[in-house]
Amino acid sequence: MKPDLKVTIAGVDFANPIMTASGCSGYGEELSGLYPLSKLGALLTKTITPEPREGHPPPRTAETASGMLNAIGLANVGVDRFIEEKVPFLRKQKTKIIVNVGGRTVDEYVTLCDRLSGLDCVDMIELNLGCPNVDEGGMQFGSDPAMTERTVREAKQVCRCPLIAKLTPNVTDITATARAAEQGGADVLSLINSLVGMAVDVQTWRPVLTYNRGGLTGPAIKPVALAQVDAVCNAVNLPVIGIGGIADFRDVVEFLLVGASAVQIGTTLFVEPDAPLKIVNGLKQYMKEKNISQVSDLVGRVRKY
Ligand SMILES: Cc1cc2nc3c(=O)[nH]c(=O)nc-3n(C[C@H](O)[C@H](O)[C@H](O)COP(=O)(O)O)c2cc1C
Repeated sequence: MKPDLKVTIAGVDFANPIMTASGCSGYGEELSGLYPLSKLGALLTKTITPEPREGHPPPRTAETASGMLNAIGLANVGVDRFIEEKVPFLRKQKTKIIVNVGGRTVDEYVTLCDRLSGLDCVDMIELNLGCPNVDEGGMQFGSDPAMTERTVREAKQVCRCPLIAKLTPNVTDITATARAAEQGGADVLSLINSLVGMAVDVQTWRPVLTYNRGGLTGPAIKPVALAQVDAVCNAVNLPVIGIGGIADFRDVVEFLLVGASAVQIGTTLFVEPDAPLKIVNGLKQYMKEKNISQVSDLVGRVRKY
């Protein structure tokens, strides 16, 4: 039996459920030097904003126990250069392309969706509703259910491809923002973005990041991510993409079992850029051992007490 890893989400067919997470492989150029991107279920771009952004001054990343802190500050080339310089490369890749966008206002999200969702190589748009490392925009959209609903609704009106709402974990109850995104018309939810964190240098007494705080990611956050994905899968009727601390195929199986239809790999790419390939192989082997023919047969099958 040959395990079938194909998944269909909101009408889009993916070769496998393993995607990169936004911000962890730029626009895919470096990764494509290591292996063909066709090995990925999908490539997610760095968050694109209307204007180019330099981001925060270094140090803007730091290692923590089983994870990392970052306050990049949404450094990106801006939408004009993205279309001019990055889209021609992305168009040639034989994988699904999901463009992640972020704005300071609802109108900026709408404009970005309008400009990007009609491009032939863009399969889905992901709204970054929860970047913790910027002063304007970012978390304000994703932490208030009313704002989440409004941003998704207005973006959806102009979006010509399926729309993913990426949720922040920095809220009391993520099911409230998940329901708001569903109400606003999101086709898919993805979660989690990074958790707000901080570290201080005991010699200099200065925070290790110039932005003082940052987003915690990596294996340290996996149990939090899994619990939030589980909660959201039980609260909404939308496909969910699980993100947070995934490092090997066992982590993927956990996310699928609680109900995620696919997953994204972030921090692990910095340590092991070919992790998605190893994960796909591990998943195939696991399915053979368990006599599972379709990867979708794992989705939501957790046996809860
Ligand atoms: C260095 C870095 C940059 C990131 N940049 C973005 C970004 O631009 N947009 C976004 O939506 N998420 C961004 N994220 C969050 C990831 O996409 C992901 O949600 C988070 O890292 C959790 O997954 P992980 O534990 O596998 O890294 C970034 C994460 C890291 C580590």
